[in-house]
Amino acid sequence: MILAIDGPAASGKGTLAKRLAAHFGLPHLDTGLLYRGVAMALLDRGDALSDEAAAERAAQVLAPALLDDPRLRERAMGEAASVVAAQPRVRAALIAFQRAFAATPGGAVLDGRDIGTVICPEADVKLFVTASPEVRAMRRALELRTRGQPADEAEILADIRIRDARDAGRADAPLRAAPDAELLDTSDLSIDEVFTKALALIAPAIRDC
Ligand code: DC
Repeated sequence: MILAIDGPAASGKGTLAKRLAAHFGLPHLDTGLLYRGVAMALLDRGDALSDEAAAERAAQVLAPALLDDPRLRERAMGEAASVVAAQPRVRAALIAFQRAFAATPGGAVLDGRDIGTVICPEADVKLFVTASPEVRAMRRALELRTRGQPADEAEILADIRIRDARDAGRADAPLRAAPDAELLDTSDLSIDEVFTKALALIAPAIRDC
């Protein structure tokens, strides 16, 4: 059973994906970490984020162990990841790893921007998780503060708007719901409510698996 969970930054898709993975006993891949990893490799080496050849190489040799680096979760890395993610050669270099993960016997949960549209168009379940930009900025600020990082909500909101526009406006695998995805707006829902709604949305697909 493959669960594809897509949506914009801080929509709650990561939290939901983790929880669904635990519930069904499936492995979970946060694919945003791959793009963050590529961005971090470039920044560490002093390469420009716009250097597509360097970014492609970094994507080709990305070590899964690197995905545990806490620096990947920093706000600036999300912004840098969005820049490298607009480069088709970077996206192409990361496809095989994601599809191999999705092919784990028994199934997997993947979250990102293009899982239901490009990486796993045949996924058994597709959810597109959204929330208003204001709610997402508030959640991201809370999350950063919980981790002891500074968080200016107005700045985060501005970043979110820029990132949404870049992720949805790029030519290759833009952020958008697959035509057969279930839409889940989490703006007014608690984490528990989102989980319960998601379980109800995916129940019919699970019966067919
Ligand atoms: O989910 P995230 O905030 O960690 O993702 C960081 C950036 O990576 C995001 O702005 C766009 C890009 N991304 C992508 O293009 N495709 C994915 N499947 C996951 C992330």
